[in-house]
Amino acid sequence: MHTITLINGDGIGPEISNSVMKIIKASGLDINWDIQTAGSDVISSEGVPLPQRVLDSVRKNKIALKAPVTTPIGKGFRSVNVQLRKELDLFANLRPCKNLPGVKTKFEDVDLVVVRENTEDLYAGIEEQIDSDTAHSIKVITRKASERICKFAFDYAVNNNRKEVCVVTKANIMKLSDGLFLEAFRHVAQNYPSIGKREILVDNLCMQLVQNPSQFDVLVLPNLYGDIVSDLCAGLIGGLGVAQGANIGADCAVFEPVHGSAPDIKGQNKANPTALLLSAVEMLRYIGEKQYADKIESALFKTLSQGFKTIDLGGELSTTEFTDKIIENL
Ligand code: NAI
Repeated sequence: MHTITLINGDGIGPEISNSVMKIIKASGLDINWDIQTAGSDVISSEGVPLPQRVLDSVRKNKIALKAPVTTPIGKGFRSVNVQLRKELDLFANLRPCKNLPGVKTKFEDVDLVVVRENTEDLYAGIEEQIDSDTAHSIKVITRKASERICKFAFDYAVNNNRKEVCVVTKANIMKLSDGLFLEAFRHVAQNYPSIGKREILVDNLCMQLVQNPSQFDVLVLPNLYGDIVSDLCAGLIGGLGVAQGANIGADCAVFEPVHGSAPDIKGQNKANPTALLLSAVEMLRYIGEKQYADKIESALFKTLSQGFKTIDLGGELSTTEFTDKIIENL
């Protein structure tokens, strides 16, 4: 039996985690969930939002499924998500974006993958208050991390039958930092003669994405652009409720949805579990449980195609009703 760490998060995290655990169990796959809490709720009892036991559990089990964790804005503790990615060196953030059956959107042929560098850039957490009216934030880009993520993107393209990798920067303005990322891309690209290469500036990419997203295949981006662009891409396929993701490192992988803890709908049984469920499906493929992954994905697609949806997708079902419909279709 697989033992998998489950960080069940806060906000809507526990609701969607319960839904996903229930669906996986109903599929017939037995998983020993090592449930680990993190975030603001554990500060009072353990002093920190990301206790060592959570890191130890992921290091030991090598695989985790993670629901969202709230980060206070403008003050308070450092993001648990950013810390986790950094501590475990989960350098690649993989966010596939593909239209789902039964979810009507403006475009019908979106099938792209965002590969976001996960450990540096403006997320390195190096900020300095110069005086009361001035703050600096340092953008860190290294050749090592840039080459590593570009190699990951090209390998992903080769292994998943993708045709092109497009690098996204603002190297015309940030000539040194984004310039280095672009240089790393060009260097790594030489080893992949069968994959197409493309270079685009991030502002132009955003415009192209909202006009003609089907022209893109695999995108590779530094951390900040990757974060923003993947939310934009989530919007192309039906919103945050359906956008899956994974953080992958050399030793372990943490699968999590793109969305946050949605405090506005917390505890109301309104959250869409699809994004976490699709992240779990990818996780099952990653650990070799392809048969169960396909079974669960088919049941989800069937449910959506039958018109059963949660409120964020224009439907009427609660989290638990939608979960039960998927289980009926398993
Ligand atoms: P959010 O993604 O939580 O919510 C944005 C909007 O989308 C809200 O209206 C929300 O109700 C809706 N939404 C999100 N997920 C949904 C779902 N599964 N079903 C239905 N509707 C859904 O973004 P927001 O409000 O900016 O962030 C809230 C908190 O989450 C913040 O503290 C933020 O730092 C944190 N966050 C955590 C992430 C993580 O744990 N990986 C990622 C992004 C944000």
